[in-house]
Amino acid sequence: MGEIVVGADLLRKVVTELLIQLGTPSDVASIVADSLVEAEEKGVHSHGLMRLGAYVEEVRKGSLNPAGRPTVLKEGVATAVLDGHMGFGHYVAVEAMEMAVTLASKYGVGCVGAVRLHHTGMLEFVTERAARRGMIGVAMNNTEPLMVPVGGRRRAVGNNPLSVSVPSSAGPVTLDMALSVVALGKVREALFEGKEIGEGWAVDGEGRPTRDPKEAMLGSLLPVGGHKGFGLAFVVDVLAGALIGAAVGPDVKTWSTPGGWNSGFLAISIDPAAFVGREELSAAVSRYVRRIKEIQGVKVYVPGEDRAERAQESRRFGLRISSRLAENLVELARGTPTGEELSKYVAALRNP
Ligand SMILES: NC(=O)c1ccc[n+]([C@@H]2O[C@H](COP(=O)([O-])OP(=O)(O)OC[C@H]3O[C@@H](n4cnc5c(N)ncnc54)[C@H](O)[C@@H]3O)[C@@H](O)[C@H]2O)c1
Repeated sequence: MGEIVVGADLLRKVVTELLIQLGTPSDVASIVADSLVEAEEKGVHSHGLMRLGAYVEEVRKGSLNPAGRPTVLKEGVATAVLDGHMGFGHYVAVEAMEMAVTLASKYGVGCVGAVRLHHTGMLEFVTERAARRGMIGVAMNNTEPLMVPVGGRRRAVGNNPLSVSVPSSAGPVTLDMALSVVALGKVREALFEGKEIGEGWAVDGEGRPTRDPKEAMLGSLLPVGGHKGFGLAFVVDVLAGALIGAAVGPDVKTWSTPGGWNSGFLAISIDPAAFVGREELSAAVSRYVRRIKEIQGVKVYVPGEDRAERAQESRRFGLRISSRLAENLVELARGTPTGEELSKYVAALRNP
């Protein structure tokens, strides 16, 4: 299947217009578009533009409220819980992190949870906003059950993504991962692209290893690192779910449960100024990264560096997306002014 090169700005415009047409306020639409295009630029296709069709469907079904903006349910000194009013999770999560950063600048630490929000996308989009301002950003959410516990047979916990961004003199250093061997989005991506999934990613409905994405969707994902990944997923469920009044484990409803979405989200920010100092932390992280690289003698990456490198390449040489995804976007954006522009561009590449 071929790939085409498209300008990121054109894609951002197409997505923003499409979301506005669905009833999304323009500021919210542009945050969602930024998140999806940044995921594409970083090679996190599973949480990029291929999700758009599902969002459109969710808006039509009424499970996603495109105009939903968070309101405060509960406030403490350096804490808050938000009601996301079933709005775009990308936006609600950004708002929660903004609030956590503001609280952290005042009190050293800020911790903001959110309930009733839709899919949050690639979490580092949220945590890097904190790190770019010299703060530590931590974000996590629970998902519907997707993974089996070690030795178990039934999906019991989500693959609960966790992202931590720390500032460094050379920009944020970010670990952003789902707690399954791969995110479910990567299985969806394989299904979408008609490819096999990797070995050790998933089991089928009978608990047998499978490389068929369809079987994997009916079965379970496997936790990263066996019992350790399962344990971490359990902990995220407690912090992003039970602690803030959202559902946990087998009771979490999101994509595959009609009228669902009772998952939770948690943003934590820490101001290094309350500890070693902002500049000192950034310098210490940079030194640490340099030390790791110096002692290897071969090229290695620190967390997030692979994605940052891919983003740089996409920004330099243009964003590569599969022709299948391009056709899908053209179909979705039909009727919007920039959608027509994209349609002509894709058609010209097809019939040069
Ligand atoms: N919103 C949701 O509900 C949800 C659910 C699941 C996953 N996700 C998102 O899915 C995305 C994909 O997750 P994933 O677990 O497949 O990520 P991944 O396995 O591709 O990467 C995990 C982490 O490892 C780092 N990394 C990759 N290669 C490396 C190397 N060679 N050396 C050092 N570090 C390296 C990456 O930068 C990243 O921080 C994440 O962005 C996550 O936020 C979101």
